[in-house]
Amino acid sequence: MKLIITKHNLGLWAASYIRTRWQTRGKDPFVLGLPTGGTVEDMYAALAGLVKNGKMSFQDIVTFNMDEYVGLPPQHAQSYHYYMKHHLFDHVDAQEKNVHILDGMAPDLQAQCTQYEQDIKRAGGIDLFLGGVGRNGHLAFNEPGSAFDSRTRVMELTESTRRANARFFDNNPALVPTQALTVGIGTVLDAQELLFLASGPSKAEAVARLVQGEITPNWPITALKTHPQAALLADPQAASALTGTAKTQLEKAWAAYPNEDVILTL
Ligand code: GLP
Repeated sequence: MKLIITKHNLGLWAASYIRTRWQTRGKDPFVLGLPTGGTVEDMYAALAGLVKNGKMSFQDIVTFNMDEYVGLPPQHAQSYHYYMKHHLFDHVDAQEKNVHILDGMAPDLQAQCTQYEQDIKRAGGIDLFLGGVGRNGHLAFNEPGSAFDSRTRVMELTESTRRANARFFDNNPALVPTQALTVGIGTVLDAQELLFLASGPSKAEAVARLVQGEITPNWPITALKTHPQAALLADPQAASALTGTAKTQLEKAWAAYPNEDVILTL
């Protein structure tokens, strides 16, 4: 896999990458796996801009979101349904039938997760899975300990994640749902290509574990290393805890070309 460290805006970088992949897609429909979170807000704003300016269209793009809280209705401001509507779907030309988001209010949660896996298969699999990274290294809502072959399921959220996400719930961890629905790590790894984003110092430990640590379910992010076509896009702060060879490579590259992206093969 590749670690790409950029001083440019991660959202613009990722949106432009998605557009290029969409333009050069080998098949229709183009199927995207989509995340939520603060990190990817700029990416959605940039995608909305591309559509507004006629440079991209979601008409034939099929999307699958990676996760949703259990117990929050779609109109709840902190549900991922609401997030996606607000940040992306209100601004682009996607067809409703092509948009898939797990329903945290479904009466039979597990049946819905099984159906989700089938829907992904029926769409021909995911071409490009975008994602963020949790402070504890979680991918989607796959908390530490999740098996690399896990599938879409109900997940108990850790205290660490509920504390981290409390900033969206009046800074009160007790208001953060205790469970979520999430695609599995195996579901993510089945995609043709992965592009994950990490920004800011709170992600520095997870990025350092990915680069320097062993591949382990205790740090779900390290599953990216097992995928043949994966990249993590990080800003300098998220890459600030790197040590050893990786740190030296980064410093040398920026000494020579201060504004260029640095690509490390892991
Ligand atoms: C939530 C989401 C993850 C996301 C993470 C990071 O926990 N389930 O998919 O990667 O938040 O969010 P942020 O970008 O706000 O740091």
